[in-house]
Amino acid sequence: MQGVMAKAIALAPDSWVPGGGEPDPLIRSQHGHIGKPLSRLDGPLKVSGKAPFASEFPMEGMVYAAIVFSTIAKGRIGAFEIEAAKAAPGVVAVMTHENAPRMKPPPVFMSAAKAAGGDTLPVMQDDIVRWNGEPVAIVLAETQEQADHAKSLVAVTYAAEQALTNFGEAKAKGTKPAMFMGKPLHDEIGDAEKALSGSLLSIDATYTSPRHNHNAIELHGVTAAWEGDRLRIHDASQLVAHTAWSLAQIFGLAEDAVLITSPFVGGGFGGKCMWQHQILAAAAAKLIGRPVRLVLSREGVYRVVGGRSATEQRVALGADRDGRLTALIHTGTTAKTAANVMPEPFILPTRSMYAAQTMLLDVQTVELDMLSNTFMRAPGESVGTFALESAMDELAHELGMDPIELRIRNEPTKDPTTGLPFSSRHLVEAWRRGAERFGWDRRNRVPASTRDGEWWVGMGCAAATYPYYRMGGGAARITLTSDGRARVDIAAHEMGMGTATAQTQVAAERLGLAIENVTFNYGDSSLPGIVLAGGSQQTAAIGGAVAAAHEALVKELLRLAGNASPLAGLKPKEVISTNAGLAKREEPDRHESYRSILARAGHASVSVEAKAPPPLETQHWSMHSHGAMFCEVQVNAITGEPRVKRFLGSFDCGRILNPKTAASQFRGGIIMGLGLALMEETQFDERSGRVMNPSLSDYHVPVHMDVPEIDVIWTDIPDPHTPMGAHGIGEIGITGTGAAVANAIFNATGRRVRDLPITLDKLL
Ligand code: MOS
Repeated sequence: MQGVMAKAIALAPDSWVPGGGEPDPLIRSQHGHIGKPLSRLDGPLKVSGKAPFASEFPMEGMVYAAIVFSTIAKGRIGAFEIEAAKAAPGVVAVMTHENAPRMKPPPVFMSAAKAAGGDTLPVMQDDIVRWNGEPVAIVLAETQEQADHAKSLVAVTYAAEQALTNFGEAKAKGTKPAMFMGKPLHDEIGDAEKALSGSLLSIDATYTSPRHNHNAIELHGVTAAWEGDRLRIHDASQLVAHTAWSLAQIFGLAEDAVLITSPFVGGGFGGKCMWQHQILAAAAAKLIGRPVRLVLSREGVYRVVGGRSATEQRVALGADRDGRLTALIHTGTTAKTAANVMPEPFILPTRSMYAAQTMLLDVQTVELDMLSNTFMRAPGESVGTFALESAMDELAHELGMDPIELRIRNEPTKDPTTGLPFSSRHLVEAWRRGAERFGWDRRNRVPASTRDGEWWVGMGCAAATYPYYRMGGGAARITLTSDGRARVDIAAHEMGMGTATAQTQVAAERLGLAIENVTFNYGDSSLPGIVLAGGSQQTAAIGGAVAAAHEALVKELLRLAGNASPLAGLKPKEVISTNAGLAKREEPDRHESYRSILARAGHASVSVEAKAPPPLETQHWSMHSHGAMFCEVQVNAITGEPRVKRFLGSFDCGRILNPKTAASQFRGGIIMGLGLALMEETQFDERSGRVMNPSLSDYHVPVHMDVPEIDVIWTDIPDPHTPMGAHGIGEIGITGTGAAVANAIFNATGRRVRDLPITLDKLL
């Protein structure tokens, strides 16, 4: 028996497409897979050490790499002293710009559909130094220890030039309007400054947030080998297809000559994209003709992988006596480099949050000589909501109004800046349910008036929000085999958030199969689709592609079923997938199993591939995840130490596909938000442009002792305009959290801290 492969069909299921289309039928499906708290299917592999990570793939004759980082921010390399390193035990070669293979600069993210680079800078191609920490040499040796030792023997002299690494100095020289995804980060409704000065009540404050660096537990690591003219890479990646295409551009290869696999990733958060390490590993492997493993040290991650840039934000709010916003101003400055495209877009949440009569939103940038910054969980919203939602709390205090009431009074009926209707927005319900569950009515409205021994006690709240995105280019393949099993193939990613589990549930639901008969296959650039695990949109991107592939599959199965089938004569729209086969809608007895269809047709398998429809839904609706965050803190009256005692996230994020993995995503986001609120801060020396705390002992992230009980609830109301009725949930947890903590600290102590992180010295 042979398998059949239907041709790739660009199908557009009009399910969630605007213009009177039906919602995705999965919103109503009754197979019971969606909404089940299924444990992670990859869990047993992980806890038994059988899940291979990028830097664990064995390769014959492999060598290990260690990077020498520049110690100046700008200038030229004078000379290398590498003889001692070359003579050290086990050393195979030292690569510098003098012997590195010639490569084109990386295509920067968003410059093309599959561009993956953090910036456009050439990688070890010349003697120019562009940031403090840039890789200038790579030592390759038989063991990691030998490479690390030999690296310490390399000496580099530099001719330093004047670098611009001071934010204030750069700002004084002038700022540039920030562009984000090809559009300026600027909105105006009416004359907000005038409305502000005419407002009965107003607040006007500046909020600052520091640089943040990525600290996924799994270090960025890559194993690279050339197999003839083909390049094989095991990467820790949130974008395998993008990275394969980008490396092909850099090395002048056909796209399918680069194969990237990334079956397991130990955390991404926006940082596991393409940086210099993948390029350098591939170049080094080419230079010496042997496979290379390059794992960045923790310091290396800080030197080579971009993080979140610092922001300085002004939020000014004007209101009438009822608390209705007459003016909403959110402006400020952030730093980037000339070679990247990621200004921290902190006004994004403000665009759709409140029904202000006038608005002025604007982001300006300065360009510094530093490592290019990048996406870090909820870029924009994480620190933008800190400013906006702190300001709302300040206004509520001025008004003597409950901060939840103030927000509900300003709840918009349509998107304030685009005028589009919301596809699904039940934030008020999230507030009400959250307030009740948290015991908000027990909050003492008067700041600095509740004590428990030497601890001040307070409660605060803030809104959370993150956009719904569904990037184009999603495609998927479904293969049904005559034993009644299905496999979904898509170049998607599992970074630990439960994607493989939730998507197995979705595919089982869509196909009417048992969970154990569905395999979700991902993490391989040779699979269909351009899917990015980012922007909290992977679930929608996969969902849209699998829905399209399913439509193509139904069509193909009906064709194969033929006239002898109980399904004979039915059109695709008239059948549903159920009970391991197809049945006439509302006539379940008119059913034929997949096995039976394939057996009669004499096929061992049937395979279809289809593209997701373009994301038109986002042009017709304003689409966002929402949440209401509640925090209780204690602040020590003697030492100033803040401790978060309780936290609740009450979310409105469409339909929740798997409550267990979703709760974990929400909690993880909130924990990262607690770090943002209380401890995370990159110490960037503004004189030298060097990151001074590139380690987890000096850069603090929350540990178990810092994390209180975190309660999460959700409305579970499907959005009829998205695949599965779902919204993204990967990033929203970090949004609003910083402000909820800051507002609770204000309630506890009467101290308003507008400068992150809120460390104890700021509370004394
Ligand atoms: Mo996220 S910062 O889009 O990985």
